[in-house]
Amino acid sequence: SALEVYTPKEIFVANGTQGKLTCKFKSTSTTGGLTSVSWSFQPEGADTTVSFFHYSQGQVYLGNYPPFKDRISWAGDLDKKDASINIENMQFIHNGTYICDVKNPPDIVGKTSHIRLYVVEKENLPVLEHHHHHH
Ligand SMILES: *[C@@H]1O[C@H](CO)[C@@H](O)[C@H](O)[C@H]1NC(C)=O
Ligand SMILES: *[C@@H]1O[C@H](CO)[C@@H](O)[C@H](O)[C@H]1NC(C)=O
Repeated sequence: SALEVYTPKEIFVANGTQGKLTCKFKSTSTTGGLTSVSWSFQPEGADTTVSFFHYSQGQVYLGNYPPFKDRISWAGDLDKKDASINIENMQFIHNGTYICDVKNPPDIVGKTSHIRLYVVEKENLPVLEHHHHHH
């Protein structure tokens, strides 16, 4: 059996606002007390990743990584196979790649999924899709 983890490929967040990092998964096993979620961060231009969030048995464990201190909250629901988190007050230092990893024993073999997140000034947010639907 294999676990499949899904995230958007990239997201844009205005600096000073909340970013939602959406992550969903599929598993042949039911979720429960053994299910766990980890998020790590690879800063833009760096080749190392830092694990900053872990969730299991209804408990949140935060890493000791200053850029994320007091900013992260759980926004997922394991019953719905949702492993999303929120990050408050995003700043340019939060540019980078976010990696969602889910384990659902005995279903533990699966790829992680990555989001490339861009923190931009509000004026530089990409124009939303529905603004293009003129034809
Ligand atoms: C976003 O960044 C710009 C440029 O650094 C700054 O002037 C502005 O105050 C920031 N906005 C928020 C909401 O933090
Ligand atoms: C973050 O990304 C934005 C958009 O690509 C860029 O303008 C900004 O310089 C980046 N900031 C840092 C600290 O990498």
